[in-house]
Amino acid sequence: MPSQPLYLQLAGHYRQAMEAGTLRPGDRMPALRVLSERHGVSLSTALQTCRHLESLGWLEARPRSGYFVQSSVRPRLEPVPEPRAVLPNPAQYVGIHERVSSVVVRGRLAPVRFNLGGAAASAPLYPCEALRAASVRALRREPALWGQSVPHTGHPAFCAAVAKHLLSSGIVTAPREVIVTHGGTEALALALRAVGRPGDVVAIESPAYYGLLQLLESLGLRALEIPTSGHTGLSLEALDLAAASYEGIRAVVFVPHLQNPLGATMPAERRRQLVQWCEAHDIVLIEDDTFGPLYDADTPLPAAKSFDTTGNVIHCASLHKVLAPGMRLGWVLPGRWRSRIEMLKFTQSRGNEVLSQLAAADFIGSGSFERHLQRLRARLRRHRDWMAAAIAAGFPQGTRLSQPRGGVHLWLELPPGTPSESVFDAALHEGIRVAPGLMFSNSRRFDHCLRINCGLPPTPELGQALRRLGRIVAEAR
Ligand SMILES: Cc1ncc(COP(=O)(O)O)c(C=O)c1O
Repeated sequence: MPSQPLYLQLAGHYRQAMEAGTLRPGDRMPALRVLSERHGVSLSTALQTCRHLESLGWLEARPRSGYFVQSSVRPRLEPVPEPRAVLPNPAQYVGIHERVSSVVVRGRLAPVRFNLGGAAASAPLYPCEALRAASVRALRREPALWGQSVPHTGHPAFCAAVAKHLLSSGIVTAPREVIVTHGGTEALALALRAVGRPGDVVAIESPAYYGLLQLLESLGLRALEIPTSGHTGLSLEALDLAAASYEGIRAVVFVPHLQNPLGATMPAERRRQLVQWCEAHDIVLIEDDTFGPLYDADTPLPAAKSFDTTGNVIHCASLHKVLAPGMRLGWVLPGRWRSRIEMLKFTQSRGNEVLSQLAAADFIGSGSFERHLQRLRARLRRHRDWMAAAIAAGFPQGTRLSQPRGGVHLWLELPPGTPSESVFDAALHEGIRVAPGLMFSNSRRFDHCLRINCGLPPTPELGQALRRLGRIVAEAR
């Protein structure tokens, strides 16, 4: 961008090198003199470049040694503690819908400068230009697209791309088994409607994604909140205890990678145990792998579905967080509920529109998807580390922080007695939106917690907003 000051252009150049992994954590930046000669800029511009990158958390200055790429910042805060092994109570989700909706509406109505309340990355992190080009190509190939009706369970090209993509999670499925949905939300709704009747009990993680809580309430299902570790996810021991105490658990819903909001990832062996346990207890397992491709590894861990030999696991996922929030594309692998889920999809919403499926199929099939995911994970890692450091520096003592291995959110336990709803309102007043803990459970156990989105790029302004948020937390106690 020629109108940008030189130091910003140069900083952008080195930032890209760090995001691409050309310059890695701990690497020494070229000396100021080298920068100046290499790029034909003055020494003071070279210094300004490094200082700017330092202020954004990309570089650290070491006395008499120069600038180094910031090594992965370990949060200085204590990690979120393990859950207490309390026996859960099956709660009827009456009221949670209202509570969550009220928070969502308040957040929407207020003018927001820093949206830390969402669960996706910021728009520039998604490959919008490549998807635009893929959409144009699709319309060129099929100019009469808008005049045609859509396949009910998904376009074959997209189903084939999804089936191929799922191989990386160890799932081997035929494209015809994939049912395309309006995001993960419809996938979950179809799965729950297929297996549950109003009044049935569904075991879920606690805390859980608030959209699931709303869904359960709207379907008249009763949720049983199972203690969940911030490291290993749903407690299988607590689940076993719950099943011994409450008869008639119909299904278990769990998030294998980067659970929302805790950020936990269940180890592969525990996934296998969960699949076997559900099978042995005749309980349906609904796997919601919304965040799998954001897990910080070249391949995700094997999905629970990959251990399923009987069709008892229903696997749901979406492209919302990983490729294109604007597409609203998801899918469900229905296991042995295929005909019922197909029928429900037909009665609920018919098929998805085709253009976005074709664009996504083109992008996924071209190999660009893998490259995009690698870049996205690297950027998110930086953003998370930077944000964890900013929170550690600006929040009061006693704050605890999750340590997710990937993804777009951090979970904070504020010092005991800090009401997250007051923090939410006070922050909103200053143009900062967060997700208060009360949205994630029907119990009041997480009222002193916050979920913060870390998909925004680091900027000095965001740093200031986080410091302000830290002060709001301190004042709210
Ligand atoms: C765990 C989890 N499942 C499902 C969803 C919904 O996915 P989608 O936005 O694709 O409908 C979300 C969204 O935040 C989520 O966090």
